[in-house]
Amino acid sequence: MKKLTAAALLVLATTAYAQPYDNSMTEDAIKKRLAPVGAVYFEGDKAAVAAAPTGPRSGEQVYQGACFACHGTGALGAPKSVDDWAPRIAKGKDILLSHAINGFNAMPPKGTCMDCSDDEISAAIDFMTSK
Ligand code: HEC
Repeated sequence: MKKLTAAALLVLATTAYAQPYDNSMTEDAIKKRLAPVGAVYFEGDKAAVAAAPTGPRSGEQVYQGACFACHGTGALGAPKSVDDWAPRIAKGKDILLSHAINGFNAMPPKGTCMDCSDDEISAAIDFMTSK
């Protein structure tokens, strides 16, 4: 009987201990944290709606969003520096654009920005090769 009481106490103690004591995060706060950056705006929030993308993204925006992962770091051997780009620029913009749109070795089609227009990809190349 003593053993059983001890076991019951142990169970109680551990379950009580496992309860989360930190309730400082409200559900709203958690939702805010989980929401993708820049994707949250509410109906009627005019300032935010005005800031939402209209028309084509700039080369810099596309670069930061889709190309930087590889071209900002040199991942997979992606051209990064001016020196990396020089021999590629020499091939001509048409070839670079077609490689960027269709993919080229480890370079994925559209740099994985599947909702990018050809013009946006072109602007991103201009941005990357001129900085
Ligand atoms: C997953 C990594 C990755 C992402 C993301 C990526 N690239 Fe690339 N990109 C590469 C690699 C690797 C190469 C080099 C391919 C080679 O020469 O074999 C390359 C090469 C290129 C080239 C040169 C092609 C040539 O003919 O020499 C252009 C232009 C280019 N990328 C544009 C872009 C643009 C624009 C974006 C964003 C919209 C982008 N890339 C996103 C990996 C990436």
